[in-house]
Amino acid sequence: MNSIKTMLLNDGSTIPSIAFGTVNVKGATGLYDVLNAIESGYRLIDTSTNYNNEGMVGEAIRRSSVPREELMISSKLPGAAHEYDQAIQMIQESLYRIGIDYFDKYLIHWPLPKQDKYDEAWQALVDARKFGLIKTIGVSNFLPEHLDCIIEKTGVTPATNQIERHPYFNNKELVEENKKRGIVTEAWSPLGREINDVLGNDTIISIAQKYNKKPAQIIGRWNIQNDVLPVMKASSRQHQMENIDIFDFELSNEDMEQINSLDKGEPGRVEGQHPNEYEEFD
Ligand SMILES: NC(=O)c1ccc[n+]([C@@H]2O[C@H](COP(=O)([O-])OP(=O)(O)OC[C@H]3O[C@@H](n4cnc5c(N)ncnc54)[C@H](OP(=O)(O)O)[C@@H]3O)[C@@H](O)[C@H]2O)c1
Repeated sequence: MNSIKTMLLNDGSTIPSIAFGTVNVKGATGLYDVLNAIESGYRLIDTSTNYNNEGMVGEAIRRSSVPREELMISSKLPGAAHEYDQAIQMIQESLYRIGIDYFDKYLIHWPLPKQDKYDEAWQALVDARKFGLIKTIGVSNFLPEHLDCIIEKTGVTPATNQIERHPYFNNKELVEENKKRGIVTEAWSPLGREINDVLGNDTIISIAQKYNKKPAQIIGRWNIQNDVLPVMKASSRQHQMENIDIFDFELSNEDMEQINSLDKGEPGRVEGQHPNEYEEFD
């Protein structure tokens, strides 16, 4: 198995080009999932206050034989804390919960444009980085107008934008908009979260057979070749190992195009979570 390649971000830092996702990875079983993932080679762990598992992530860091400095921990600001003071406190509380003194990466989870406070939240992340609480700051589920608003108000461009992306909803225009602004796209639910059948799609399966790989590996590789960082969740140890074993082959342009052609547009979203409509205030 080849090791995970890294990506350069617009703030000069480098991060692994695959993250381990932790939605529904909680408690004692979740702890072993994360420990196994670290042992399998994952170094970037994606969590969020809304996942209710920051305590478990902290426990995994303490129990792992890999030193803290070699792990990258990324969490996300919940919608209930977009006001400036609340955002700063939330970042501090998350650090206490995990038991670390800085985040390697931290994102605003959703823009919540109806609430319209994401610019305050972004200013808080910019300042939290100055205070040394965060190394790299980014956003999630931001559309071009949200990106332009925070860049204009603060002069600081997010390093990453984590957005929904899988073959049935490839979000191609937003990936391009991110790229235009020098922002790396992270793909959430890259495997369709078991809600859609993308791993059983005939085109994906036939491409997988051609390269002697698994469908999930084809989707991971399709992201890497598009300079997109997939955030992949897997509790199965075999899945974890498969998903990072994607650096020893190259998909042809024709196969990349075939995967692109599976896009269904808006109806392809896994749970219809449009960033202008979806609201989470936890
Ligand atoms: N920013 C946001 O708003 C947002 C939203 C959603 C998700 N996310 C992030 O993105 C991460 C990934 O998304 P997700 O958890 O929704 O789902 P996902 O990664 O698209 O899919 C996970 C599912 O795929 C299965 N799987 C993984 N590898 C496989 C393989 N090689 N072969 C077959 N099946 C495989 C897993 O099974 P097993 O677990 O049984 O191995 C699990 O059921 C999340 O965990 C989270 O960190 C962010």
